[in-house]
Amino acid sequence: PEVSHTPDGIKILDTFLTKVAGCKKDWQMGSFVDEQTNEIKAAIGHKKVVLGLSGGVDSTVVATLLNKAIGKQLYCIFVDNGLLRSNEVEEVEKSLKDNFDLQIRIIDASESFLSELKNVTDPEEKRKIIGRVFIETFQKAIKEIDDVEYLAQGTIYPDVIESAATSTGKKVTIKSHHNVGGLPEDMGNLKLIEPLKLLFKDEVRRLGKELGVPNSILNRHPFPGPGLGIRVIGEVTKEKCDIFRKADYIFINALKKHNLYSQIWQAYAALLPVKTVGVMGDARTYQHICVLRAVTSVDGMTADYVDIPHEILGSIARQIVNEVHGINRVVYDITSKPPATIEME
Ligand code: XMP
Repeated sequence: PEVSHTPDGIKILDTFLTKVAGCKKDWQMGSFVDEQTNEIKAAIGHKKVVLGLSGGVDSTVVATLLNKAIGKQLYCIFVDNGLLRSNEVEEVEKSLKDNFDLQIRIIDASESFLSELKNVTDPEEKRKIIGRVFIETFQKAIKEIDDVEYLAQGTIYPDVIESAATSTGKKVTIKSHHNVGGLPEDMGNLKLIEPLKLLFKDEVRRLGKELGVPNSILNRHPFPGPGLGIRVIGEVTKEKCDIFRKADYIFINALKKHNLYSQIWQAYAALLPVKTVGVMGDARTYQHICVLRAVTSVDGMTADYVDIPHEILGSIARQIVNEVHGINRVVYDITSKPPATIEME
């Protein structure tokens, strides 16, 4: 596999496939859409399919592909765990309903998530709770739809590789937390359909474009399943999530305004569980520290921090401290991965 990544390796493979094996290079995304829609229609018939929407690229593309194939037989469930970014639920709902007339059920489970997270500070414990409450909420929502037979998932090829078995039969666990915030493989009687299983991320984006998914969704940064649960460091409360959302919104908007967003793999604001002293006007303040993090990466396995110009960072920091009540200090994370991870928890 390493040789195949070099220009010479690609040339050798190309020559072998076209000249020796006689393959034609006629694969097109448009025909993939037609093939997949026909296959899905044939496999599903008149049965019902349920899909968990997260607002991310993969689940949105699966939703639009299935919508094209089976229309109203598709039931999308969006679990609002209270750990999402500012306006996330409204934006995803509006964009998918307006553009595709998707059938979406939004389940507001934020109180369950936040009450289960009360007094919990350990990152792995938080992940486990968020994962468990998500599954419970999702399973309850499915029970409210009669006669569902299929569960669709936005599994893509890297997910398949990461959970593949080696020749020794051992599972290669590259990232244990990879799908925390997702669904277990075994979902009772439901049959699984995974139409993106053979595609890489850039192909999923091309497929989405072909299906008319708006760029605002296709070009989104990856967002972890546990969401703010691992970006509000330490105990997660509604008050801290609200503070986080305002700061994160200012940061992300500034990156978009300065045309930096699309060059960045992932960016976010995090809230530290310590308060420090500041001064505003004549008054002493004692509030949270907000950390800004932005990294470039190819696959999330390693990452470099982004060298955002100081004047941009300075103006973002000023705006956050002036507009977000609860934050009086902003710092920028300049560690790469390794040794730091992309998320702070
Ligand atoms: P780290 O923090 O390990 O993250 O450098 C690498 C990539 O994985 C994402 N990530 C997660 N995704 N559930 C997810 O679905 C998780 O628990 C989780 N933790 C990290 C992270 O956002 C980055 O893209």
